[in-house]
Formats: sequence, C-alpha cells, structure tokens
Amino acid sequence: MKFELTEDQRLIKLMVREFAETAVAPMAAENDRQHRFPEELLPKLAELNLLGVPFPEEFGGAGADNVSYAIVIEELSRVDASVGVIVSAHTSLGTWPIYQFGSQEQKDKYLRKLLTGEMLGAFALTEPGAGTDAAAGRTTAVLEGNEWVLNGSKIFITNGGYADVYVVTAMTDSSKGTKGISAFLVDKDAAGFSVGEKEHKMGIKASSTTPLYFSNCRIPQENLLGKPGEGFKIAMQTLDGGRIGIAAQALGIAQGAFEAAINYSKERVQFGKPISAQQAIQWMIADMAVEIDAARLLVYRAAWNKDNGLPYSKEAAMAKVFAAETSSRVASRAIQIHGGYGYTENYPVERAYRDAKITELYEGTSEVQRMVIAGNMLR
Ligand code: CAA
Repeated sequence: MKFELTEDQRLIKLMVREFAETAVAPMAAENDRQHRFPEELLPKLAELNLLGVPFPEEFGGAGADNVSYAIVIEELSRVDASVGVIVSAHTSLGTWPIYQFGSQEQKDKYLRKLLTGEMLGAFALTEPGAGTDAAAGRTTAVLEGNEWVLNGSKIFITNGGYADVYVVTAMTDSSKGTKGISAFLVDKDAAGFSVGEKEHKMGIKASSTTPLYFSNCRIPQENLLGKPGEGFKIAMQTLDGGRIGIAAQALGIAQGAFEAAINYSKERVQFGKPISAQQAIQWMIADMAVEIDAARLLVYRAAWNKDNGLPYSKEAAMAKVFAAETSSRVASRAIQIHGGYGYTENYPVERAYRDAKITELYEGTSEVQRMVIAGNMLR
C-alpha cells in the first residue's frame, strides 16, 4: 500500500495550486461579496483541461484518474469553494451520467463539448418536496409522438442559469415507484424550460443556485438518458461519484482555513509572544491537522476505489460525512484562533466557515450519508 501521490497526480496538484493561487484566489472574496458567478474562469479552466479531468482523452477529457479529480476540486476549494462546486457539479453530476449512460448520439452531441468547456453541465433531481426523499419528485414526463413533455419544477440547482444542458429526473410511470423515474437531457433553450431567480445563500455565494421550471417543456425522444425507469438508479450512482467531489471540496475548504489559522497564529502576538506558542492554540492546530489528514485519506480512498473498479458508494458517503463535518469544525476553530478578527470579512476564515456548512447539506445531508453507510453495513 502506497500513501504517496503518483508523479502525474503530484504534477496536477502543483499545476492546479498555481492556477488557483494566481487566477482564482485574487477574486474569491470579491465574487463572494458581489454574489458574482466567475464566468471568465470557465475558458481558463477549460484551457487547463480542468472541466473534464476524469474522462478519456478520446472524448476530449484530461485522461486523469478520480484521485486527480479529487485533488483538483480540493485545490480549487482551498481558495474558493464556489469554483470548487461549479467544477464538481459540472463534472460529477452534469457530465459523468452522460459519459456512463449516454447513447453514442448523446455522447457525440454533448460529451466532447462538456469536457472541453464549450458547454457547462448541471444535474436536477431535487424538488421543493423531494430533498432527502429524492424519490418523492413530482415532475412528470409523458411521451407525445416523438417528444417527451416535461411538467414540474426543480430547486437548488447548482450552475442553474449558466449550464447549457441539464440532467433531469422525472416520473414516467407513477405506478412503479423509483422504477418509474427516468432521466432526461434538457437543453437550456428547450421550449417550455425556464430558470428562476438565484437563491441568496449563506455561503458559496459566487456559485449559482436556482430553481428550474418545466411548463409543457418539449425535448426530443432521443434525449431520454438510459432506459425508461432507470432514472433513480442513474441519479443514485451519479451522486455516489458526486459525493467524492463534495468531500474533496470540504477537504479543500478545511485545508485553506487551517493554513490561514497557522499563519495567523505565528504572526499574532499576545502576552509578548506569538499565540502559536500557547498550548491552547497548539492543541487546536493538532486536532485540525489530525482531522484533515483523516478526511484526506477517506476522500482519496473513495476516489481510488472508483478508479480501481471497486465499490465506492459507502466509501464516498464516509468521505463526505467526515470531510464535511471536519470542514465545519476546522473553519470554526480557525475563526477561534483568529479571535474577533476572524469574524470579519477581512480574513478568509469567515468565508470558509460559511462555505463549509453547505458540504453538510448538498448531495445528501450528513444524515443521508449515515443512512447510506448504515444501509451498507447492515445489508
Ligand atoms: N446505486 C445504485 N442503485 C441504488 C443506489 C446506489 N447508490 N442507491 C439506491 N439504489 C437503488 C436501490 O438498490 C433500489 O433499487 P431496487 O428497488 O432494485 O432494490 C432503489 O434504488 C431504491 O433505493 P432505496 O429504497 O434505498 O431508495 P430510497 O427512496 O429509500 O432513498 C436515499 C434512499 C439514500 C435516502 C436517497 O433518496 C438519497 O440519496 N437521498 C438524498 C438525495 C441527494 O443526495 N440529493 C442531492 C441532490 S444534488 C444536489 O445536492 C445539488 C447540486 O447541484 C450540488
């Protein structure tokens, strides 16, 4: 067993860190304050092949593994968690199901464009009455002639309004429960499709989160993803991978807050010496270091399992619940170390604290991760 990154993974980490420091970090606080989606970053991310990391080069991807993908999301989130989720939702949720379940025609039409940044992807499962109970969605799809007609609405959709194509679940046979749910690809300009107002969120403010509306929305018959009735399984499998991305995002937020706390503790002088000399601070730093390391091992292990064809549903859930809760604890301690200064917008730990919270909520709350883990353990 090796605990070292491969040469390729190390080089990707160095490249993304440099990009994150120079192109992402300088605008992060301002974009957060302005609730501004960093559209100008998308072509730059595409240029570095960061919008198609874990996909084969033959489709336009970077041909890297999922451990590298986790590293990319971690490094982006270390400086800006909004950019982390934009890339993660695009890659894991908007693109992977097309790669995994798409027909040749769907791959020809969408995949290369998604991987090369010509298109941005998104995933729409959640509805006002169907969050944790993902199967309770009320959006319907009916086949009329050679078109599917969708009616209903979705909520909390990451990349809403900026995505070019949405992977959308809808009920096609309500008598069959989860086996009556199907998945569809909806283009942003489909007739009867519209995007609502952005949510005003506590954190990840530079990312876009919107409702989607389907009012007799017509899409071609061939935009069914997979077979009729496969939508719930497609969504669950997609989320298994997505949770690795969000776990990596949480890890990156924690790492960023941790580094800020270390730096501050060395500079801040009280009682005639840097506060890093105080045991109270040292114990917090030690606890943060242990938890971040444990989270990183869980995140990389889940990604490694995916790379090696091993089961990763439980491992992704474990990584996500632990990394998310670590992220919130670490960001909270990082503010504690900063004292009152940490509570102001002048220090990055305030943003980290707000950003960390969402990782305990989206792509399955921490309670959902525990349901998935317990379900696996008790099976
Ligand atoms: N892989 C493959 N199949 C799976 C699966 C998985 N990971 N999980 C469940 N299934 C299958 C089951 O095997 C079962 O199939 P069979 O009937 O053939 O046995 C079927 O799906 C139904 O499974 P359950 O009975 O376990 O389903 P449930 O209704 O009890 O739901 C749940 C289980 C885990 C709570 C699920 O509803 C869930 O994950 N909820 C949370 C949803 C979620 O994460 N939402 C986030 C949306 S995305 C987002 O956050 C926004 C964003 O853009 C970032």
